[in-house]
Amino acid sequence: MNLEYLSGFGNEFASEALPGALPVGQNSPQKAPYGLYTELFSGTAFTMVRSEARRTWLYRIQPSANHPAFSKLERQLAGGPLGAVTPNRLRWNPLDIPGEPTDFIDGLVGMVANAGSQKPSGISIHTYRANRSMERVFFNADGELLIVPEQGRLRIATELGVLEVEPLEIVVLPRGLKFRVELLDAQARGYVAENHGAPLRLPDLGPIGSNGLANPRDFLSPVAHYEDLKQPTTLVQKFLGELWACELDHSPLNVVAWHGNNVPYKYDLRRFNTLGTVSFDHPDPSIFTVLTSPTSVHGLANLDFVIFPPRWMVAENTFRPPWFHRNLMNEYMGLIQGAYDAKAEGFLPGGASLHSCMSAHGPDGETCTKAINADLAPHKIDNTMAFMFETSQVLRPTQFALECPQLQPAYDACWASLPATFNPNRR
Ligand SMILES: [Fe+2]
Repeated sequence: MNLEYLSGFGNEFASEALPGALPVGQNSPQKAPYGLYTELFSGTAFTMVRSEARRTWLYRIQPSANHPAFSKLERQLAGGPLGAVTPNRLRWNPLDIPGEPTDFIDGLVGMVANAGSQKPSGISIHTYRANRSMERVFFNADGELLIVPEQGRLRIATELGVLEVEPLEIVVLPRGLKFRVELLDAQARGYVAENHGAPLRLPDLGPIGSNGLANPRDFLSPVAHYEDLKQPTTLVQKFLGELWACELDHSPLNVVAWHGNNVPYKYDLRRFNTLGTVSFDHPDPSIFTVLTSPTSVHGLANLDFVIFPPRWMVAENTFRPPWFHRNLMNEYMGLIQGAYDAKAEGFLPGGASLHSCMSAHGPDGETCTKAINADLAPHKIDNTMAFMFETSQVLRPTQFALECPQLQPAYDACWASLPATFNPNRR
């Protein structure tokens, strides 16, 4: 199916699946066209400055309010509560995709988090694994979802329309948006950053100028698409970290028309305009930021989504991989495909690593030795896509993440093979 999309970031879009379904000139007329109900879907407080305010007007067959009480589900999210505090560097092999039937909700596993869902800031990071489409509909009251597929294409039917994504694309679903994840392949796996803070947006470009990094027109939102289905549908929500459900007698994906800027969107990471040095030295990875969720401190991110795409390496007289570093920020890295240039082995597609505030890390011994002795002709790092969820608050692993067999027991050893090269008699 060739889907239609609306192009742009933060735009006030308008879309209708039936001609004339959108009221003209006002948001909530006494009678909406086609006998639809009017509903406001707010993603930010009403009184935010206009440039940050997000809201969408929905014209739907049944208002969302038409539902019975939610009951807490017996089967809760996998991953469990947060585990013991650790300053250690951690790395995980990819989690297996379960053999038993598992949809997107059942396959979500909490890995790390830095805030309870009740806080208006912080992030939680999950892995998802699925081998069948959701038959229920889900919404997350706890935050916005940034989904990074690593395996398997997804069709995501949302209240505002349908998005299809594949590995090397990402999708962002606003807090509270109802959606159903369907699999277009036999199985799917990937990463989810749940953003409890300010909605993701494009970073400022500063001296870079008015172009570069992710261009606004490459962000795609769906067009209105509705299900007029009078059939039993389970609606699940995540509320303060717990799953609750109720039974509807209709599909809640029943929005016939909408206008606003609180919308889901997808982005193809291959369209990222990667910038870097054309002289010497290694820029900070902030130059690879796709999206950012700011805090109230200018420049300090609640969440930066940063990618390491294919790119030319041309720096002269330079150690080209990321140098050893210790940061204020906390880094959770994943790999979508290929290999990451700072690690010779052990960091696999679908796997992850965690380097917390002030934890020392950088290239492993093998990569370091190679880079110091490399012939510095221009060369292209190709067929790779690593990424980082970077956040200003310390991430704590879940009990699951600390106990699962995928946690590598000897990650520290990758730096133990760094050769002793210091010689006070040879400059
Ligand atoms: Fe780092």
